[in-house]
Amino acid sequence: MSRKVEAFISEKLNDQHHSGLYRRLTAFNEDLVDFSSNDYLGLARSKGLALAIANRQPAFPRLNGSTGSRLLTGNDSFSEEVETMLARIFSAETALVFNSGYTANLAILSSLPHRGDTIIYDELAHASIKDGARLSLAKRYSFKHNDLNDLERKIRNASGRVYIVVESIYSMDGDVCPLEELVKIAEHNDACIILDEAHSTGVMGTGGAGMAVDSKLSQRIPIRIYTFGKAMGVHGACIAGSARLREYLINFARPFIYTTAPDYHTLASIACAFDFLRANIELQGMLQEKIQVFENEMRTHREFRVMPGAIQTIHIPGPEHVRQRAMELRNHGFDVRPIVSPTVPAGKERLRICLHTFNSVDEIKALCNLLKT
Ligand SMILES: Cc1ncc(COP(=O)(O)O)c(C=O)c1O
Repeated sequence: MSRKVEAFISEKLNDQHHSGLYRRLTAFNEDLVDFSSNDYLGLARSKGLALAIANRQPAFPRLNGSTGSRLLTGNDSFSEEVETMLARIFSAETALVFNSGYTANLAILSSLPHRGDTIIYDELAHASIKDGARLSLAKRYSFKHNDLNDLERKIRNASGRVYIVVESIYSMDGDVCPLEELVKIAEHNDACIILDEAHSTGVMGTGGAGMAVDSKLSQRIPIRIYTFGKAMGVHGACIAGSARLREYLINFARPFIYTTAPDYHTLASIACAFDFLRANIELQGMLQEKIQVFENEMRTHREFRVMPGAIQTIHIPGPEHVRQRAMELRNHGFDVRPIVSPTVPAGKERLRICLHTFNSVDEIKALCNLLKT
């Protein structure tokens, strides 16, 4: 490699070390109690779901890979069948499947807002939303987290078509967006809401349809992103919306056009995961019970704000401090991950605790006792 490039890589890695932000891969440790994965309903570890996927007989000669982009050889009737099923679940005219939620956000934000338009996103929006906005030629601004006055201020200064991008449940804070008020503001200002339902897919709504459907607002939110790698326990994502929107994405969204289509196994897994959840919908209630146990334990703890869903956070400023605390919990057998900058702003480091159907009451209480000390 070029000496200049080598020097650049070393310098950047040294900086990461010195600022305490160095990242490394750690293998999932089965011996620890999982309080960190996004597998809220336990579907990623469900033997029943694994069996259903394995038993779903392929109807096509291409058993493994999809062989090309959806626009070339990667499309077949099964892809469209799964999309019809997803559209029905998410109460939309159509759905278009993507390889991941990251790609879906890049696809919509890089293709729809054009030069002269304005994207306004919540400051705590996921990196894929910010990256998608960066790929667009539109102007982009953030508004203060869940602050509708700030949003309205930003809308007043906006030009062109205006896109408001929010998440139903925020991935690093676990709080929810004020969806109904956002919809009213969007309608009043002729703005278009793009709602990322990554952390509500599966855990909320009939059949796991998420927050927009659950709060009967789906018909007023034209663009919705659902991901399947979290509570659904599999992989992939879709954008739900009108038939014209789907046509638009097929024609203009480069992250859709220039990539190999999801393979049969991915599509079958998505279909099976939703069938499985429909047949085991009590999992949603079981998760709520576990959240309730956590809430009862932590309610009286000073400086702790209980969140309504499966994602809870304990703020511990400073990357070293939060890492140290996570390590202590790990030594007690609990897998809780520290979240540091740039995933969250510097100074807002936190422990991110994810609750699951499979965490026992005793495990949750033991974790809470450690958190309180
Ligand atoms: C809010 C949000 N959107 C999108 C994504 C990306 O989804 P995926 O993991 O399927 O790429 C994530 C993943 O962490 C997320 O939290």
